[in-house]
Amino acid sequence: MESNGYQSGFGNEFASEAIAGTLPVGRNSPQRVAHGLYAEQLTGTAFTAPRHANRRSWLYRIRPAAMHGRFEPFAQSAFHNDFSQSPVTPEKLRWNPLPMPQAPTDFIDGLFTMAGNGGPEAGTGVGIHLYAANRDMQGRWFYDADGELLIVPQQGRLHIETELGVLDVEPQEIAVIPRGIRFRVALPDVDQAHDAQGRAGVAGAGCAGATGYVCENFGALLRLPDLGPIGSNGLANPRDFLAPNAAYEDVEGDFELIAKFQGHLWRAAIDHSPLDVVGWHGNCAPYKYDLRRFNTIGSISFDHPDPSIFLVLHSPSDTPGTSNMDFVIFPPRILAAHDTFRPPWFHRNIASEFMGLVHGVYDAKADGFAPGGCSLHNCMTGHGPDAATFEKASAADTSKPDYIDGTMAFMFETRAVIRPTAQALDAAHRQQDYPDCWAGLKKRFPG
Ligand SMILES: [Fe+2]
Repeated sequence: MESNGYQSGFGNEFASEAIAGTLPVGRNSPQRVAHGLYAEQLTGTAFTAPRHANRRSWLYRIRPAAMHGRFEPFAQSAFHNDFSQSPVTPEKLRWNPLPMPQAPTDFIDGLFTMAGNGGPEAGTGVGIHLYAANRDMQGRWFYDADGELLIVPQQGRLHIETELGVLDVEPQEIAVIPRGIRFRVALPDVDQAHDAQGRAGVAGAGCAGATGYVCENFGALLRLPDLGPIGSNGLANPRDFLAPNAAYEDVEGDFELIAKFQGHLWRAAIDHSPLDVVGWHGNCAPYKYDLRRFNTIGSISFDHPDPSIFLVLHSPSDTPGTSNMDFVIFPPRILAAHDTFRPPWFHRNIASEFMGLVHGVYDAKADGFAPGGCSLHNCMTGHGPDAATFEKASAADTSKPDYIDGTMAFMFETRAVIRPTAQALDAAHRQQDYPDCWAGLKKRFPG
């Protein structure tokens, strides 16, 4: 299914039809919908949510979403919401990139749950997953009833066909798929010719796999932060968010629909593509955003602000000012503060921080934090620049600006402790020696 282009804005009342005359005028559910389509409402918030936070869309489709076979358990044991590992360690944790699969593996089979908190039953918290995939999803579609999915590609573009249209995203862009929306992921940069061992990319025509990060948000829907004294512009601007125009396919065959429901995966046979929405209107829709369009704001005198200044999107909690999850980025920027230690300071936070690196080098770590890797610093666990970064920044000339270029790091920061899964703690790609990067910090106090 090809992209039909995009509509601009965040949470707008969008309207799009792939065939003219599909959308009813002045009503949502006429007695007979145009072109013999079915009308179906998808709600993303409670019916009675306040108007500014209310999300729902009307879909006009070839068949209703109710039409598929019976659900049965689907086995993909690495993708789950089991964060019950106890006791949870306060240790500083870091991992190398998730290894590429050695067999043909699509986006769903390639998901590996690293950590999380809360769960779909409580309606709060997040699941944090990595993916490494080397094959398009073939004859299957997926939806997540447990949360919306914030997808952060790290290597390889994703062609995401959804019920509401197509999102083409590349590294340094993000995609958000609302809870319940059915979709399929294809990997346009991956050479899909697998050799006898199942390895992709051997023909040399494409990369060996697509990798990235996924935050599964069980809580309130992601929204743009208020800007306070920053004013009416800045950080992520609403016009840079793109929702797809309607696109559909009318395909029949023996396919499967995979669902994630209450932390477990299920499958049902389906005899047609569920991507059969010919037109839709509303404000509950998938969207994408180019992180390179983030208007980065920082100090022009001394010190630097708290990292909340880098907030792209957040999921609020019931406590004002305290997010269920903040999505924060560390993009290219100019550090100009005088007489200031310019990298992130040493710190301990009440919030817990899961970091990833899409591209380049993160300015608080001299080495060891590779693109595709990740780290976890939990509530009140002391961390900050490593010894090499501290030495360099303490001696730097702060009369001139530093240009931090060619980088894109990010953080999923949560109110609750982020509990690593057993498979993440036991993974071969975990860096067991990570805490040693602070060991070289010298005692500088003369006594
Ligand atoms: Fe931190």
